[in-house]
Amino acid sequence: MLDRRSFMATAATAGVLLPTGSAAFAAAMQPISMPAAGLYDSNEDAYWAALRKQFLIPKNVVNLNNGTVGSSPRPVLKAVFDSYELTEQMTQAGSEDYPIWGYGPWVEFRKPFADFMGAHVDQMAILRNCTEANSYIANGFDMKAGDEVLISDEEHGSGEQPWVLRAKRYGIVVRKFAMPKAPKNPDEILNRINDAITPRTRIIFVSHISTATGVILPAKQIAALARSKGIISAFDGAHVPGMIAIDLNDIGCDLYTGSMHKWLFAPKGTGFLYLRDEAVMNRVWNTVATGGWDDPTRMADRYMQIGSANIPTMMGLNAAIALAQSIGIERIERRHRYLADYLHAAMMERGAQSWTSPDPAMRCAIATVNVPPVSRMELQEWLWKNHQIRVRGGEPSKLRLCTPYYLSKADIDRFLEQFDAFRKMKGIA
Ligand SMILES: Cc1ncc(COP(=O)(O)O)c(C=O)c1O
Repeated sequence: MLDRRSFMATAATAGVLLPTGSAAFAAAMQPISMPAAGLYDSNEDAYWAALRKQFLIPKNVVNLNNGTVGSSPRPVLKAVFDSYELTEQMTQAGSEDYPIWGYGPWVEFRKPFADFMGAHVDQMAILRNCTEANSYIANGFDMKAGDEVLISDEEHGSGEQPWVLRAKRYGIVVRKFAMPKAPKNPDEILNRINDAITPRTRIIFVSHISTATGVILPAKQIAALARSKGIISAFDGAHVPGMIAIDLNDIGCDLYTGSMHKWLFAPKGTGFLYLRDEAVMNRVWNTVATGGWDDPTRMADRYMQIGSANIPTMMGLNAAIALAQSIGIERIERRHRYLADYLHAAMMERGAQSWTSPDPAMRCAIATVNVPPVSRMELQEWLWKNHQIRVRGGEPSKLRLCTPYYLSKADIDRFLEQFDAFRKMKGIA
């Protein structure tokens, strides 16, 4: 007979939803061992299935909506909870050594993340999310009324609205170019950007991976184009950390932002702002200020001076980086592509219209498709309520299908089967 603890742990992995805060939830949080070394080479499916157990998402739930927020796995949650327990004791040795303060340089959190992203610690500020980091750029970048920012027509509200606010308040101009739908090669995007640049363009701000379509924009070429014209380049990389391998300094951009809570599975409340060098920092005013904001020797750290901070989330961030590194980002990216390509091809076979790039190199773990006359909201509700499958999209018929590495082909087949069943039920051929 199962004791209470093993019953609850079994219940969680068998797909029973457990109320958070309950003893059952705590039991389900017990550590589970990582896949054995060598399993990837001997049995890749078993390797990913073993990693799936690190996620609290019940077994019967298929999560194809990782693009909104990721689910933090056990090692990340454990780091956060342990860190709360430790810091809340307030027993640190030094009288000034009070671990849940902000104000410090926090190299122990900035450096692992900077290393992971191909940047130097001095270039990296960890903020609370991508929206905040984008707001730092739009609010703080040195511009006069009439100066232009060039953005795409596919920016997330958290990329576009900070500029709209600045325009409304201070008279800068937000100019938009239309992204090709769907881009077949990088030059199509570069040409659109080039054609939209004017003598008043001061900064180009675009997503590195489009939230709407999953298209990977040619960041390195865009940064080079901007530089050749004396324009600052800034990227919203909300979907980048943990989805694809990246080397920020190789891209050669001036500014870059992102979220760690999506594809890296770090705790909610983690985002970042990368600033290339002192010259760029001198052109970006702080938005939130306390002591230290005006000390240039602190480099990117001065953008982290926000007052008291939530250090346990950063301990969770370090655990998320360690998990990704223990798997290997190249391996993760390959898995993302494999699952998304499989799903994308299956939707094409069903007559869907692709909204992402037809070039597999220009997309990764987001396969956006248009499936008229299916109502995405009706399908989304039906899939979640009846089949525990999460999808999300846009009106009226667009589905943004995300494939985090812990999904299996069988999970995707379950979605496809129910997608077919829904269409049949609605009399759609
Ligand atoms: C491109 C893009 N930028 C910004 C955001 C907002 O991110 P955060 O929740 O980290 O503020 C999102 C969220 O989906 C996004 O897709």
